[in-house]
Amino acid sequence: MDPVTPSLEVSGLAYAYPDGHQALFGVDLTVGRGERVALLGPNGAGKTTLVLHLNGILTGGAGTVTVAGMPVGKKHMAEIRRKVGIVFQDPDDQLFMPTVREDVAFGPAAAGVRGAELDAVVLRALEKVGMAGFADRPPHHLSFGQRRRVAVATVLAMEPEILVLDEPSSNLDPASRRELADILRTLDVTVLMVTHDLPYALELCPRSVILSEGVIAADGPTGGILADEELMARHRLELPFGFVPQSVA
Ligand SMILES: Nc1ncnc2c1ncn2[C@@H]1O[C@H](COP(=O)(O)OP(=O)(O)O)[C@@H](O)[C@H]1O
Ligand SMILES: [Mg+2]
Repeated sequence: MDPVTPSLEVSGLAYAYPDGHQALFGVDLTVGRGERVALLGPNGAGKTTLVLHLNGILTGGAGTVTVAGMPVGKKHMAEIRRKVGIVFQDPDDQLFMPTVREDVAFGPAAAGVRGAELDAVVLRALEKVGMAGFADRPPHHLSFGQRRRVAVATVLAMEPEILVLDEPSSNLDPASRRELADILRTLDVTVLMVTHDLPYALELCPRSVILSEGVIAADGPTGGILADEELMARHRLELPFGFVPQSVA
């Protein structure tokens, strides 16, 4: 693969749900390989609708989505599902096997990985999220923060081109939120992170885009976006009380 091929290219993406409600009105977004980008925007902006197009869960609108140069569509669906790792908001939507090991092995095994190679893939993915010591535990015995980390591992085990996280810090206590940030920062993968946690976006993502009413309304360095009070207010984005983005290095 050409190293300059972006991980993600969304071009002119428009989509209306079957009931006629239009959620996206022509989204253009390019994410380069290795970038970490925060996707910000008020409720109802179309963030989830956009995410569901990235691996072909939703299709049929106008425009194109390309992952590492491969168009998202029926022809390459298995490959696209491997390349686009989506971590959903609720880890319990993603963990359903009796042990952590089996959950993390599920995707690679379905893709044909077997034996010692499968064991190595599972261990490597669990090590990346600091959960290698939990391989034989039932997921439902873990804390919520640990389950979210295992959910990230199930996706990393597929060696995705792009990791897409929907509200990764939601429902985490401060220590778990910090641990997950430390993990995400060390991953050597392209990241698109949907978040309402603006300090998290600033800490982890050099670049942010604001999706508002189904279009990209801003795209630039996260510090500059968060510091633009008029832009933030216009898109119903509020910094936590007392948080000054300029004060964060
Ligand atoms: N299944 C659906 N059918 C019809 N409209 C929907 C459906 N899902 C979401 N919408 C609408 O599409 C718009 C975008 O929703 P969504 O992508 O969930 O926004 P966000 O994730 O930014 O909160 C909203 O107006 C929402 O009500
Ligand atoms: Mg959403």
